[in-house]
Amino acid sequence: MKPAVHRIGVFTSGGDAPGMNAAIRAVVRASLYYGIDCIGIRRGYHGLLNGDFTRLNFESVSDISRRGGTMLYSARSMEFIEEAGRKKALATCKLLGLDALVGIGGDGTFKGLLSLANSGISVIGIPGTIDNDIACSTYTIGYDTACNTALESIDRLRDTMKSHERCSVVEVMGHRAGHLAVSVAIACGATVVLVPEKEVDFDKDVIEPIRQARLGGRTHFMVIVAEGVPGGAYHVAEQIKNATALDTRVTVLGHVQRGGSPSARDRMVATYMGHEAVKLLAEGKTCRVVAMQGEDIVDYDITEALAMTKGLDARGQAVTRAMTGVAHSALEND
Ligand code: F6P
Repeated sequence: MKPAVHRIGVFTSGGDAPGMNAAIRAVVRASLYYGIDCIGIRRGYHGLLNGDFTRLNFESVSDISRRGGTMLYSARSMEFIEEAGRKKALATCKLLGLDALVGIGGDGTFKGLLSLANSGISVIGIPGTIDNDIACSTYTIGYDTACNTALESIDRLRDTMKSHERCSVVEVMGHRAGHLAVSVAIACGATVVLVPEKEVDFDKDVIEPIRQARLGGRTHFMVIVAEGVPGGAYHVAEQIKNATALDTRVTVLGHVQRGGSPSARDRMVATYMGHEAVKLLAEGKTCRVVAMQGEDIVDYDITEALAMTKGLDARGQAVTRAMTGVAHSALEND
């Protein structure tokens, strides 16, 4: 079967995520498999409108799956948001003979693809972000690695917090979502987790679980705060200190969560998604976001995907409540 497109431009955009390289590799290798040429666009939309590209072949994506970051670099382009910037991007596509684009990133990346799709270019989005905040997909590339990276640091913190009988307040990334915070809290056995999706009742959600843990014999405490919580970790730590006189320390994990060699899960999901993106293009499909539902790889119309919303996983909330041993946890919806 002759593929419906003949040259794909692949790029990564927005915040990088471990596993993006594996997705790039999968797009290139699947393109070769389906008889499609593939070009790498460097620096996301910024590179697209400036004609910043690199030819990719079988060998150029060898041994990249295990590497963090993205070999194509990533950027957030203000110029592309303007009409003139998009015109420049389309001119690059024309000049390079690109009739298809695969963008790996978040909702901003997908919106950009949509704006180009109306000009006759086939577009597919792949969800790549450590935040796991893409509504149409239960999983985004990079999430598992970021959880493990955060967890490794928190395990180390726990050693020293225990020795000094302190309260550790750890801020994890997640943009405006608490998915990463909840997963990390469950995995590290935190006393408290605070997420932007739920307004904080300080006494009920923070002090009460600490009190219960203290009554249960615990002398050190782990509090996980998603970066989207108003005031962040420093504000929460200050309040805890004032209310309890506990010796409190703040750790903001920051960009360390975005780096490192991707986990097996991220490499596998990235490879499945990269392959699916090219398969869809080869079949003549366009304006789709590749997604995961459970363990299945599926795809959605980009406009529909952007209109979807995603709440926190109900099972995660229930388990967190049970593990803190307090009936009224920070995640309970009253
Ligand atoms: O979307 C990924 C993410 O790491 C968020 O968790 C965070 O809010 C943001 O990107 C940080 O962006 P930057 O790298 O531009 O500081």
